[in-house]
Amino acid sequence: MPLDLSGIGPEGISRELRTGGIRIVIYGLGLVGSAIAAVWLRFGAHVIGVDRDPEVVRRASMGIGPPGEPLVSEAFGAGLSEGRFSAVTDERQAGAPPGPKVRFLAVPVTWSSGRVVLDYLEDAMRAAMLYASDGDAIVVKSTVPIGTTRRLASAAAGSVGRRPDVDVLVAYSPERISAGRAVLDIEEHYPAIVSGIGPRSAKFARDLYSLVAKAGVMALSSLEAAEAEKIFEGVYRDVNIALANELARVADSYGLDFEEIRRAANSQPYSHIHAPGLGVGGACIPIYPWFLYENAVHAGVVPELTLTARRINLSMPEFFASFLERELGGLKDRRVAVLGLAFRGDVADSRLSPTYDLVLGLLRRGAAPIVHDPLIGRDETLERLHVRLTNDLKEALSGADAVVVATDHSAYRGLTGDELRAMSGSNPLVLDTRRVLRPELLGGIRLRQFAGGRRALTEPRPPRGRANPRPAPAWPAGPGRPWRRQMTPRPRSRPASPAPTRGNPWPPKGPRAPGPCPRTAR
Ligand SMILES: NC(=O)c1ccc[n+]([C@@H]2O[C@H](COP(=O)([O-])OP(=O)(O)OC[C@H]3O[C@@H](n4cnc5c(N)ncnc54)[C@H](O)[C@@H]3O)[C@@H](O)[C@H]2O)c1
Repeated sequence: MPLDLSGIGPEGISRELRTGGIRIVIYGLGLVGSAIAAVWLRFGAHVIGVDRDPEVVRRASMGIGPPGEPLVSEAFGAGLSEGRFSAVTDERQAGAPPGPKVRFLAVPVTWSSGRVVLDYLEDAMRAAMLYASDGDAIVVKSTVPIGTTRRLASAAAGSVGRRPDVDVLVAYSPERISAGRAVLDIEEHYPAIVSGIGPRSAKFARDLYSLVAKAGVMALSSLEAAEAEKIFEGVYRDVNIALANELARVADSYGLDFEEIRRAANSQPYSHIHAPGLGVGGACIPIYPWFLYENAVHAGVVPELTLTARRINLSMPEFFASFLERELGGLKDRRVAVLGLAFRGDVADSRLSPTYDLVLGLLRRGAAPIVHDPLIGRDETLERLHVRLTNDLKEALSGADAVVVATDHSAYRGLTGDELRAMSGSNPLVLDTRRVLRPELLGGIRLRQFAGGRRALTEPRPPRGRANPRPAPAWPAGPGRPWRRQMTPRPRSRPASPAPTRGNPWPPKGPRAPGPCPRTAR
């Protein structure tokens, strides 16, 4: 008679996990899977990591987790030395004794050629169902379109003659983590969202997560509600970043300091204006709107706001590249140092980074870009484009006609004008898309910060109440000469939609990123 995981309560689960009576199996040891492994190892459980990539398995077996992810390698190391952790490419290699297992699925789900790619998750679900014993639990962690968990689990269970929620428990619990703080995000920062395919699965998921989620557990009424929750979180971010980008472009065209305005606006509890920048990257936020799109189209709803937001965010690299072209009077053979490949500051993750689109925009204009990142050592996409990636700032800046700060790495914050001049050997134009640099350190540098409130290359702001003596330059192509319109520019005709950008057709046909979840070599 198999152990009834839904009936033994949190104390029973805790006891069995710590004694190895229940084992944890994790399919996919990427950023998410290794963080889940670390959390359960830290809890004292016995964990088997399964990843198809032999290199990932080799590193995990040596106690090495993803770079820049605190607490993971330590947890792997402790688990290995205590005989509680192993990593394998095929579950059968683990040689684990029979007995109940909780199987987490943390493999990629991506978007390619206009469709959601579920292949990895289908494979993992099939394997988990195949190797499961009666009484096991499968917990899907990957972000998926609404309806996916039920469909895949039912199909895989049916193919091996098992009944979900009866023979095998099936839960969905989205992962709510950010790179660089994944373990503590799970353990401390946010409530765990859980759901089950039936009442037994839902109860088990609640009991299980109550053991590790200090911020509590939110049990949702269905798998579909939990799947939607994760997608909505991501779409909310994407739409709000697009709004910030749009507002910042308006502020910029008026020579206004967007950060000043944002701070003031956000002092009111209903305003949560986000930070503008080069665009949106990472394995999640740029993808989830397409999951919503798939669900919405199926439901007969046109997700107009979501798609417009995606289009605005995708247009940002082109916006900055064309500014640079105007400002330098052409980019042919100009050397441009792009600072930052990672999609976010202080992470070593370049998946779907908007830096790629910026580099493509520069290449299209004949420029010679070189990319610097302090945390990323190799990148296959840049290699394919014959663009050099370096960790050496001096090499990147040497001879630069222009410098574009693309990522808010803290390594760039303290850069001074003297350093930039010395390393470049000239006085390059510096375009800061994320307002990382401190203008007070950059005396004498031709600095342009996105919506920075300073028009360093142009006229000073006109005195109050007087018209601008000369037209403001068009950065960006906005209302044109706002001062002459007494701050109330009215479009002459219907405002044009943002120019369509690469890979973002309407309706969308595919992603802008090269391949599913491209990996960055570290
Ligand atoms: N990265 C994030 O910050 C984040 C946050 C929340 C949710 N998610 C979601 O979690 C999922 C995983 O993301 P990630 O960042 O860990 O991806 P990742 O690409 O870093 O890692 C996925 C791993 O799964 C392995 N894999 C693929 N198919 C497999 C299979 N059938 N069996 C075993 N291993 C397999 C790959 O080799 C890879 O190492 C995605 O669906 C993503 O949407 C990611």
